[in-house]
Amino acid sequence: MNSFRFYNPTALYYGKGQIEKHLASEVKRYGTKVLLVYGGGSIKRNGLYDKVTGILKEAGVQWLELSGVEPNPRLTTVRRGIETCRSEGVDLILAVGGGSVIDCSKAIAMGTKFEGDVWDIYQRKAKATGALPLGTILTLAATGSEMNSGGVISNWDTKEKLGGGSPYTFPQFSFCDAENTFTVPKDQTIYGSCDMLAHCFEHYFHPTEHTSLQQRLIEGVISTIVETAPIAVESPTDYTARETMMYCSTMALNGMINMGVQGDWACHAMEHEISAIYDIPHGGGLAILFPHWMDYVVDENPARFAQLAERVFHVDPSGKSQREVALEGIQKVREFLVSIGAPTRLADYGIGADQLGRMAEQAVRFGPIGNFKKLGSQDVLRILESSL
Ligand code: NZQ
Ligand code: ZN
Repeated sequence: MNSFRFYNPTALYYGKGQIEKHLASEVKRYGTKVLLVYGGGSIKRNGLYDKVTGILKEAGVQWLELSGVEPNPRLTTVRRGIETCRSEGVDLILAVGGGSVIDCSKAIAMGTKFEGDVWDIYQRKAKATGALPLGTILTLAATGSEMNSGGVISNWDTKEKLGGGSPYTFPQFSFCDAENTFTVPKDQTIYGSCDMLAHCFEHYFHPTEHTSLQQRLIEGVISTIVETAPIAVESPTDYTARETMMYCSTMALNGMINMGVQGDWACHAMEHEISAIYDIPHGGGLAILFPHWMDYVVDENPARFAQLAERVFHVDPSGKSQREVALEGIQKVREFLVSIGAPTRLADYGIGADQLGRMAEQAVRFGPIGNFKKLGSQDVLRILESSL
């Protein structure tokens, strides 16, 4: 494996009753003025807003609100949040929502402490210089943003969607109570499952040698997602399934299953180009791209694909070549995605061929993407074309 330093300072509160017990004391460690950030209203409809504000009120914590954070959060919303934090002297940002709300809050936290334009950090022209403290209450199992330092912001004017982050943007604390995901609609449950699965794949496919434990840890998370996602999709109030999926989402992208490994991440780079232009859900885009990427790169290391096929999808290798086993495994990935209702083609979102060239160029704007196989713009174009 590669040499590594592991750092993850987020305090995680998992399970029922943790918000009631610990939210007030966690918030008060950072001050008494909070910016409460949330999305389009799901937390008002399911009662979480009342619960959280009730706790803040009782604790004597003053709060301001930034609501309406969009799925695929916009730079304009980030800028509004930064203005509020600066003018009001906010002590802590409290993000209550899914990955979009948390990512928007991370950008606000960084931007408030940055003298220049926060977008420069996402464009890799500058590095963050600090961040306001951030706490989260997760309402959707998908991104892992509750326990990592990354975030993805969309600039709607330039049609760019870029990831960024810094050691300053780990949440200080995150509350993960699976009951808060009971109201996540079926489609978002499917997308979230695809996203966490995709994070596992990104970590699984790389050229680094001697990573047998990492591979087995990742296979464990993938197997659990494959077993549990169908239950969460069909039975949204099944606590055990929701909790298991939440834990999978956190583990898939908090750095713990992939230490010493530099993953691939080409599919994420490609997906961000699609949602930058078409504003589609991230997990839906990944579900479409991943099988096509797998077809395209399988010959880089068929043994890794065959291992996934055998260990996770129980493909019987007898009498088959390694490549045949690998391809059967990719077919199983496809079948799983279809079985939970994930989209399979760009056409499912009404996306045609007209912007593919632009997306392919943009995807490699910082250089070739991918680590399992390095992809240039022509490779990206081929994968996008096969996804139509
Ligand atoms: O806005 P509200 O009303 O809250 O509704 C949201 C939104 O419409 C709804 N929702 C969330 N929790 C709910 C709920 N509805 C009912 N009940 C609940 N409990 O779900 C919709 C989607 O929410 P969103 O936050 O956009 O979803 P997700 O968590 O999948 O986040 C997606 C964003 O995260 C980025 C993606 O690119 C995308 O912008 N990512 C962030 C990563 C990170 N920070 O580490 C990594 C990922 O790879 C990803 O790129
Ligand atoms: Zn993702």
